[in-house]
Amino acid sequence: MNMIIRNEKEKDYRAVEELTREAFWNLYVPGCEEHFILHNLRNSIDFIPELDFIAETEGRITGHIVCSRGIIKDKQGREKEVISFGPVSVLPAFQKQGIGSALISHTINIARAMGYPAICIYGDPRYYSRFGFRCAEKYEIKTADDKFAVALQVLELKQGVLNNMPGRFIESDAFRGDADKFVEFDSTFPYKEKAETESQREFRLLASLRY
Ligand SMILES: CC(C)(COP(=O)(O)OP(=O)(O)OC[C@H]1O[C@@H](n2cnc3c(N)ncnc32)[C@H](O)[C@@H]1OP(=O)(O)O)[C@@H](O)C(=O)NCCC(=O)NCCS
Repeated sequence: MNMIIRNEKEKDYRAVEELTREAFWNLYVPGCEEHFILHNLRNSIDFIPELDFIAETEGRITGHIVCSRGIIKDKQGREKEVISFGPVSVLPAFQKQGIGSALISHTINIARAMGYPAICIYGDPRYYSRFGFRCAEKYEIKTADDKFAVALQVLELKQGVLNNMPGRFIESDAFRGDADKFVEFDSTFPYKEKAETESQREFRLLASLRY
């Protein structure tokens, strides 16, 4: 497969939002909001354009990853800037061919070279552990509402950088979109049928593993 990875350009934005909607549709909830999150992220001060990549397969956009700034905040109010990635999407017809892994590995390497200390993400540990992500509990890192969560995972980009840095991971405000604006935004895309799926039940279980 002839695949390249390059930085996303503004002219790619709409096509990538469509791709994101295709990849996430009915996967975690009926419908999806990830294309709206992506849209908001790009207008946010937390957006990192240098870490916004697309995969192209024979000239067609088949995958995408975007990064944003977040913080780990400790009990004394001290903050450490980290990054988060997502949404990460591969067109359904091109999944399981290594595109997602190539995008994630590329992003990790560039983020490390840029000097970022760590990446925090919410995702499935069965997928992200292969890139070196570990459960955030190992570093005593909790969610913004102060819980340990199985889905919250961390990758140190410099060894030991998170030692003795317990705290809460707080992601960009761009992840919390306005519900009315979402309906308006989604209505500009082609109609798609919402449905209940088995993957949604599995996702609810993973998301509920908080203590
Ligand atoms: C997740 C995603 C980006 C991976 O991209 P991809 O190109 O299919 O991934 P790769 O080909 O590099 O890797 C495929 C492997 O990941 C596994 N995998 C993919 N998603 C997974 C998940 N949610 N949980 C566990 N394993 C997963 C596949 O089963 C496959 O396993 P194998 O290598 O043992 O066969 C892609 O499947 C996608 O767009 N999914 C929908 C959107 C999504 O869930 N994004 C991530 C949100 S956190």
